[in-house]
Amino acid sequence: MTTASVILAAGYGTRMKSNLPKVLHPLAGRPLVDWVVTTGESIGDRRPVVVVGHGKELVQDLLGERVDYAEQKELLGTGHAVMQAEPVLRGQADRVVVLYSDMPLLQEATLQKLLKLYQQNEDSGQLAIAMLTIVRDDPQGFGRVIRNDEGQIQSIVEEVDCTPVQREIRELNPGIYCFNGEWLWQNLSKLEKSPKGEYYLTDMIAIATSQGWRVVGMQAPPEEVYGINDRTHLAAAASVLRQRINEQHMRAGVTIVDPASTYIEASVQIGQDTTIHPGCHLQGKTTIGSGCEIGPNSQIVECMIGDECRVLYSVLEYARMDRASEIGPFGHLRKGAHLGEEVHMGNFGEVKNSYLGPGTKMGHFSYVGDATVGKNVNLSAGIITCNYDGKNKNHTELADDVFLGSDTLLVAPVSLGVGARTGAGSVVTRDVPDGALVYGVPARPPRQKPNSEQSA
Ligand code: UD1
Ligand code: CA
Repeated sequence: MTTASVILAAGYGTRMKSNLPKVLHPLAGRPLVDWVVTTGESIGDRRPVVVVGHGKELVQDLLGERVDYAEQKELLGTGHAVMQAEPVLRGQADRVVVLYSDMPLLQEATLQKLLKLYQQNEDSGQLAIAMLTIVRDDPQGFGRVIRNDEGQIQSIVEEVDCTPVQREIRELNPGIYCFNGEWLWQNLSKLEKSPKGEYYLTDMIAIATSQGWRVVGMQAPPEEVYGINDRTHLAAAASVLRQRINEQHMRAGVTIVDPASTYIEASVQIGQDTTIHPGCHLQGKTTIGSGCEIGPNSQIVECMIGDECRVLYSVLEYARMDRASEIGPFGHLRKGAHLGEEVHMGNFGEVKNSYLGPGTKMGHFSYVGDATVGKNVNLSAGIITCNYDGKNKNHTELADDVFLGSDTLLVAPVSLGVGARTGAGSVVTRDVPDGALVYGVPARPPRQKPNSEQSA
């Protein structure tokens, strides 16, 4: 028994009032359609088929080879959208699960239950559809599920087409179905245009029952079938997804002091006994080790952070911190910054495209760019690598145990040898050998003292 999913993503999403297609709006770090495709992947035996239309290039750029595509050139309704998938899927799967791309909260477990329901019912023959339904006081424009006196599902009526009595029905159609594949492809062409000029997929239910084929339903958790139509829905769904992500981390041993103010994207990994303080944004493929203290109020994008690190009121992007290194308050790691083990960066430091070796200290107001810094280097207050000469970015090299006086400017390209030292306010324009001291502007070694014995 093979399963394939079809994800309908061709609609305009007019109510988003956006140049960006609705399905590409991000929630908790992933575009809307990505959440649904991931769910489709989890239940399918083959790649999901995404029906694209409005904004198709952008959707294809995002999803690439993860899925197969069917194009809906004219948006003639959900039934018409599924027809487009027929050439790709007919004969390819016993069961076809149709998902609407604007329902990111639907969970794999719920679909598994739907598949199970299908399986349990198919042996008794003539099973066309297993579908989810929900019961909810606020129908939110959903189609109504019509049952006969024996309680069997007969049809779905769109809200606009309801009689006053039907309108009162509170069993609703969330738009998630598992079809008998062969039956679906044989009967899809029987759909007729609605007065609005659309082919409603929901009419397949009445087509099945009128042929004596069965439709079975199962109630889904109402909070999972939340459709995104405008940006207020987007924010509400994002908050549910964030809560789910936070709960997963907490169950895995991460302390989140205030989940409501903690924004962790789906792709982030965090080790046990790490504490996330309020106001943190952890984004992209960030990994954080165990025993760290992160935040309050920090943004970390695509970073690799080792065990026992501390990040306080700081912004880190595309950077790496090794074990027990620390930054902040108010530090900035930019692309390619790499702090070795036990590096200390205090307030107002910025590091870009540079490595700081183990034990190096950079306590106050400094900028290090395009530099390689050795072990146990002391970068006092106000150090600057003058890495840009107006045309090129130049490299600075500081060997182990270098000691820089406050306010040293390193005019790159320049290198300082092991244990070299600079006086406060030095402007270093030339390389400094191992163990040497330089100071002044431009920085030079101390003048040789006159030899007192000779001059006597
Ligand atoms: C649909 C259902 C309704 C259900 C509701 C739940 C139909 C006829 N009605 O209505 O019973 O309660 O969903 O949310 O199916 N799409 C296409 N091509 C199209 C039209 C739509 O790909 O030509 C896609 C949209 O991008 C969207 C999904 O199908 O992802 C649902 O379309 P939408 O117009 O939102 O359907 P509803 O009116 O909400
Ligand atoms: Ca909808």
